[in-house]
Amino acid sequence: MVRIIYRIQYMTMLIPEIEAFLQCQTPQSWIDWALEHPEELLLDHANCEKKAAGTALTLMFRYPEREELLQHLSRLAREELRHFEQVTAIMKKRGIRYRQITASSYAQRLHKHTAKQEPEKLIDSLIILAFIEARSCERFYRLAPHLDEELGRFYTSLLKSEARHFEGYLRMAERYAKQPITERVAFFAEVEREAILTEDEVFRFHSGVPKAQHDLNPAVATADA
Ligand SMILES: [Fe+2]
Ligand SMILES: [Fe+2]
Repeated sequence: MVRIIYRIQYMTMLIPEIEAFLQCQTPQSWIDWALEHPEELLLDHANCEKKAAGTALTLMFRYPEREELLQHLSRLAREELRHFEQVTAIMKKRGIRYRQITASSYAQRLHKHTAKQEPEKLIDSLIILAFIEARSCERFYRLAPHLDEELGRFYTSLLKSEARHFEGYLRMAERYAKQPITERVAFFAEVEREAILTEDEVFRFHSGVPKAQHDLNPAVATADA
């Protein structure tokens, strides 16, 4: 009981911070879509954790001279791999075989705006990763009340670390930027909002709104935005 109360209190403390950063809530049509695709939800979630660890390692190889960043990314990569192990363990219990599935266009929709030259390229990458972490956190939060107890508890437990990852990436962006990052954050906030409200054909953890449902009820996405 005490644990449940603590969890609820933590969630209410956490979300305003994430929501202040993101420019729209996940539309209800995406939540409904996720609940219709429980297998793809877990599969793509596992892929997202693996990708998050891989991205952290890629940055470690790309920026070996940034000591603080290296230590931060190393811790983060370990944590993401732990999440991967946790999701795949739940999948195994449920008889879902882990396999590679196509990625959504979400990350690519953000990364295509990354500056080509340094240090802007690093700063943009860190800002984008902060958005990806913040959106993951927000989606775990929105999904948790609709899931079965085991999965709801697991997704709630992930909120804390994903929120920390969001803050960490943002802090690193501020640390290495030569000027204030406010404008760049605002730019990517808008790009991210568009990606979340874009219609997608295939369900993934970071996909936009479902095409067919959106057409049937165009008010849904805008009402929740
Ligand atoms: Fe994670
Ligand atoms: Fe994360």
